[in-house]
Amino acid sequence: VRPRVIFSGIQPTGVPHLGNYIGALRQWVQLQHHEPQETKLIYSIVDLHAITMPQPPDQLRRCKREALAALLAIGIDPDRATVFHQSSVPAHSELMWILSCTASVGYLSRMTQWKSKLNVSEGSTFADRTIASRLKLGLLSYPVLQAADILIHRATHVPVGHDQQQHIEFARECATNFNHAYGSHLVLPDVLIPPVRRVMSLTDPTSKMSKSHKLERSRILITDSPNEIKTKIGSALTDSMPGMSYDTVNRPGISNLLDILSIFDAGGRNPEQLAGEYRDLGPKQLKELVTDSVVAGLDGIRERYVELLTASDARLDQIEAEGTRKARESAEETMQLVRTAVGL
Ligand code: ADP
Ligand code: NA
Repeated sequence: VRPRVIFSGIQPTGVPHLGNYIGALRQWVQLQHHEPQETKLIYSIVDLHAITMPQPPDQLRRCKREALAALLAIGIDPDRATVFHQSSVPAHSELMWILSCTASVGYLSRMTQWKSKLNVSEGSTFADRTIASRLKLGLLSYPVLQAADILIHRATHVPVGHDQQQHIEFARECATNFNHAYGSHLVLPDVLIPPVRRVMSLTDPTSKMSKSHKLERSRILITDSPNEIKTKIGSALTDSMPGMSYDTVNRPGISNLLDILSIFDAGGRNPEQLAGEYRDLGPKQLKELVTDSVVAGLDGIRERYVELLTASDARLDQIEAEGTRKARESAEETMQLVRTAVGL
């Protein structure tokens, strides 16, 4: 049996928030401890995906460095995992082009994100055409780049949330189409579904914590200071019902706080158990408990992050260079097979 290869990516779009950490990045760290040593772990900061929404170049450069620092600060070990910036391995783009030549436009245009940007009902072909003419090609074709990211490293497993499953399905489709045309050279990846843990916005607990939320105090950044964490949790929306109960429908704010408390609970208690234990507390006391547990849960991340980003610290550059080298080597193995198969 071939060893497993696990690939995952994150866009360099600012310091990760608690939702990103709990929903995705913390699993990246845990895989380092739970997977057998021969499993390859490949984590990419996908800067080419970030430019589907154009942004100032200096901001992108800064975000790329911050993303790398954030991954190291949460405990990604560059000796155990391959960590690299996607654009440092041009073969990702090369494979994307080759896959584009056997991928179906029909399949791509049925994918959710493209359809939501088109925002038109079935059959309105005239509107389709006018709206589509303003949209950028990258917004349609980025799933092919995602497929290349995965296939180029011969990933067997990709940890993704439910919202991303159709992209893995599409990557399998790309591999199948390529293999059909040129022989079985690409590995079909499987989804690795992480336990679902959604963190909700602190100010609007019926929607998920997200970087797109306007209010900064709606989210906790993994690099927030204990004081910032205290202030944000202190101003979280709760309710005026007496006592504690876990009820996501009628008490979304309190329930989100109980969820967060359970995430970092050393005793592994679930939110219902915590609600029972603290049934007589008011929101203010609950917030104090949550603040303490989040501060403890994120302890050290901020310090390591700040240290890595100081100009005098050369570790980031060294780690980046080493990650690039390892990722290029891994990509090149596949590309040699692919180029030969295609006749390039
Ligand atoms: P955002 O909503 O802040 O833009 P992304 O869509 O970039 O976050 O998601 C990056 C990763 O973090 C994905 O794997 C996603 O499932 C996870 N994630 C994002 N927000 C949350 C959340 N509030 N709770 C749990 N996981 C989340
Ligand atoms: Na998003």
